[in-house]
Amino acid sequence: MSKKSSSAGTNISSLLQEKRVFKPSKEFSAASRVPSMAAYKKLWNESIRQPDRFWGRHAKSELVWMKPFKKVLQWKEPVAKWFVGGQLNVSANCLDKWLGTPLANKAALIWEGEPASDGKPGEERVFTYAQLHREVCRFANVLKRNGVGKGDRVILYLPMIAEAAIAMLACTRIGAIHSVVFGGFSAQSVADRIQDCGAKLVVTSDGGYRRGAIVPLKKNVDDALILKNEAGELLAKTIEKVIVVRRTAHEIHMAENRDVWWHRELEYVDAKCAPAKMDSEAPLFILYTSGSTGKPKGILHTTAGYLLGAKMTHQLVFDVREDDVYWCTADVGWVTGHSYIVYGPLANGTTCLMYEGAPNWPEPDRFWRIIEKYRVTILYTAPTAIRAFMKWGDEWVKKHDLSSLRLLGSVGEPINPEAWMWYHKVVGGGRCPIVDTWWQTETGSILISPLPGATPLKPGTATLPFFGILPEVVDDAGKAVPKNSGGKLVIRKPWPSMLRGIWGDPKRFKETYWSEVKGSYFTGDGCRQDEDGYFWIVGRIDDVLNVAGHRIGTAEVESALVSHPAVAEAAVVGRPDDMKGQALVCFVTLKTGQQSSKELKNELRNHVGREIGPVAKPDDVRFAEALPKTRSGKIMRRLLKQIASGVEIKGDTTTLEDFAVIAKLTAAEE
Ligand code: WTA
Repeated sequence: MSKKSSSAGTNISSLLQEKRVFKPSKEFSAASRVPSMAAYKKLWNESIRQPDRFWGRHAKSELVWMKPFKKVLQWKEPVAKWFVGGQLNVSANCLDKWLGTPLANKAALIWEGEPASDGKPGEERVFTYAQLHREVCRFANVLKRNGVGKGDRVILYLPMIAEAAIAMLACTRIGAIHSVVFGGFSAQSVADRIQDCGAKLVVTSDGGYRRGAIVPLKKNVDDALILKNEAGELLAKTIEKVIVVRRTAHEIHMAENRDVWWHRELEYVDAKCAPAKMDSEAPLFILYTSGSTGKPKGILHTTAGYLLGAKMTHQLVFDVREDDVYWCTADVGWVTGHSYIVYGPLANGTTCLMYEGAPNWPEPDRFWRIIEKYRVTILYTAPTAIRAFMKWGDEWVKKHDLSSLRLLGSVGEPINPEAWMWYHKVVGGGRCPIVDTWWQTETGSILISPLPGATPLKPGTATLPFFGILPEVVDDAGKAVPKNSGGKLVIRKPWPSMLRGIWGDPKRFKETYWSEVKGSYFTGDGCRQDEDGYFWIVGRIDDVLNVAGHRIGTAEVESALVSHPAVAEAAVVGRPDDMKGQALVCFVTLKTGQQSSKELKNELRNHVGREIGPVAKPDDVRFAEALPKTRSGKIMRRLLKQIASGVEIKGDTTTLEDFAVIAKLTAAEE
């Protein structure tokens, strides 16, 4: 194995020349729900030609309704209403549905805690469907007791512990709208999100474990609740209560009348809580994600369509069977954790594993140990993790018996063929299909992916659209480009789990997704379709970076940088990175009188960490005397990208003359 993996970013041309094909194995085509390409095509054609019939049938058979829907789709671009007139409850579909069946006593959630720093094994907790149901009902009653009702917004700022899934489901049980904030975000980011959605309550924990250290989540919440805007107003003034899970048991501050302990609150409630009847289109959750402005977007998903999308894709893409032990390694703070740790798997009655810690703590074989221990059958992870495992070496994988695995998944960024082959051979022992799943926070569920019993695989492509999905690669005028030419990826038809809006900002919703290409949803991704119709995603074409599978808006980082007193101007671009796909490079000009130095570099990196969160810490900060701009004043980003990617500039700072020389050399035109 070559030690040096190439990233998708650096190796697009080789990615496009990939010719290897892996046909579905007999085992898969014999037992899968969609057992052949012919079966796939037949269903896909129906789903496109007669979407009402296709989705109506599946909505009826897959979901449990409290009141049947009257109309499958009401579509007036860009507003979609699916399963109009119907009522249901998401937690009832994930939990109550299994009570009184043989699945009631099956493991729903297996939770594995991070091992201690001395290598002592982590804790284990297993919840059967009946037990999870009980915990969700109890916590739903705790939420009610603390003043939360239908339509109220609740922020969940938690580590990867079972309580995160319990809290999400408890919100859905009473019709409250959750907004999970990833634990790698800062107090400022928490406060901004609370303010944007007007949340009433925060659920957090005293802390979370990460590689033996404690992430001070409660302290961040305390800080968030006193942050003010420029006019001196509290950002988080809508928060009435904070519920705190005890995880690390280190000392924290509990504010009287505001903060309560999760375990203490449970003493006051019983386990009876009827699921609220929710309209199909009732808001289910808001999840913030980066866009091309400084302000993250609150992506809104609603009840029935989202659940149907998560359930059906989970069932068909992962080909789940009753005895699977399924493990998605994402964090619940991202959409993958929502759809494929919680809602999709539980709605399918799957045994789902959840792991608290990092892949290389205390040693780089953590994942393989867990797979061996629980006999995991399906693993769903990210290319950035796969590339890290490649670098750490095959011996860590080979130490463990991974013969239980039967299917592998990938998500978050393009997977380069070299990483795909390694995943296939070393982890999958050459026998497990890989489903490379393309989708977004906005799409709610997987839109482009192989189906393991039907689709021949090619390393590096997410292959073909899921049912009901009509993607196309188009040029700037919105016209389909010929096969093998690059263009923008759009989706031509509405689908059930699509986003319903940006919280509080219908104008931005329309402008971002529905104005770029007339009549279509614009994904922000660049793509090419090959001669077999397979879609090869080549990455973002807007001002969003994909760093280790995390979406980071360049404008957000720029505005964090200019909020530092030493900084006059900043421009942030991506640089191809072997491990993370893209790395964050910041060009910074300083205010008069400020000196560039190593210390200031570090200070600026930490400043971004404080403003947005450790997840957005720049990989590189470069000082420049001025930023290269076009005559109309636009920063020449393409030039900066080239410089960030390796054009050597000597000395401490970059001058505008240096930029001019490079501009000539590379003839960059913006
Ligand atoms: C990228 C994550 C190539 C893409 C579920 C998309 C991918 C963005 C893939 C969404 C894939 C995700 N192949 N690129 N299989 N999966 N992406 O919102 O650029 O965090 O637009 O959702 O990740 O990231 P998000």
